Amino acid sequence: MKNSIVSASANSGVWGAIQVKAAASYATATSTATSTSTTSFDYTIPTSNDLYPSVRKRGLAYNDASLTHFFNGFKVSWAYNWYSAPVDSTSHPSDTPNLSQTFVPMLWSDTSDLTSVWAANAQAALNAGADHLLAFNEPDQCGDGLGGSCMGSPAHAAASYKTWMQPFAGRAKLGAPAVTNGGSPMGLTYLEYFIGNCTGCTIDFIPIHWYDQWWNVDYLYWYVQQAYQVGGGRPIWITEFAPWGAEEWQQWWFLNQTLPWLDQYDGVERYAYFGTFDGMLINDNGTGLSRLGELYNERRSSY
Ligand code: BGC
Repeated sequence: MKNSIVSASANSGVWGAIQVKAAASYATATSTATSTSTTSFDYTIPTSNDLYPSVRKRGLAYNDASLTHFFNGFKVSWAYNWYSAPVDSTSHPSDTPNLSQTFVPMLWSDTSDLTSVWAANAQAALNAGADHLLAFNEPDQCGDGLGGSCMGSPAHAAASYKTWMQPFAGRAKLGAPAVTNGGSPMGLTYLEYFIGNCTGCTIDFIPIHWYDQWWNVDYLYWYVQQAYQVGGGRPIWITEFAPWGAEEWQQWWFLNQTLPWLDQYDGVERYAYFGTFDGMLINDNGTGLSRLGELYNERRSSY
C-alpha cells in the first residue's frame, strides 16, 4: 500500500477508547514538537549490539537492492522486495543483493507472470539460506496505485495458496497473505475468512500491514494484538507499516515510540517499515541513510 488511506471506520466500543487515547498521544506529541526540549524525541540506542539479542526482528522492504547495503552490519537482519528473487531483473537488473540480510521471497499474487517463476525462485532462495516464504500482498486491497493484489474472495486466495505455497510446507515457514488494516470485509476479516477457507493448509505466521496517522500508535499496538488473536497465536510479521502523509519529524516520533514496542512484544516475530526508498529510510539523493534510516539502523539517537 502506497500513501493509501484505508483506515478502519468504526468509532464506538474499543475504537472509541482508542481514539480517545490517540487524541491524548497526539496532544503529547504536539506539545513535544513545539517545546524547545528534544528529550522525548531521543531514541535510546542499546548499549549492546541488539536490545534483545535473541530476537532479530527488523527488516527492509525494498525495490532497489543496492539501497539495502546502507544497512550493513547491525540491526537489520532480513529483507524482502515484493518479489520472489532478491533482484528484480526487469526493474533493477544490475543490483547486487545484500547477502548479510536473509532474503524472504514473496509470491505477490497468483498471476501467471509471477507463478511461472515462483517455485524456482523460492527454491533458489531456500538453497541460499532463506527459511520463510511470503504469500500474496494485500489480496484484500483493490484500486489503482494502492499496491494491493486484489485477488478476490478469501476462498480464491486460499485455493491459490494451496496450489503455490502449500508445496513448500515443512521446507520453509509459510506466511498467510498480508492483509491491510482496512475495515471489514478487508483486513482482519479477510484474514479470518482466508484461514477458515484454507482447510489443510500449513500457515506458520501472519503478515499484516498497517497505515494510519503518525500519532495513532495505540491503534498500531491494538491492531497487532488483534491480528495475533485472529491468527490463532501464530507469530505476526508486519511487512509494511508507516504513518501516512507524515513529515520526517513525525515519522521520527512514530518510530521512536513503536520500535521498542515491536521489539519487546513477543507476538511480533518480524517487521519492516515502509520503506527502503529515497526520501524515506534513504536520503533524498539515494546516497545514504536518512535520519530515519539511521534511527532504524540504531545509528542515531537524536533527531
Ligand atoms: C506494492 C509493491 C511495490 C511496493 C513499493 C507495494 O505497495 O504492492 O508492488 O513494489 O509497494 O512501491
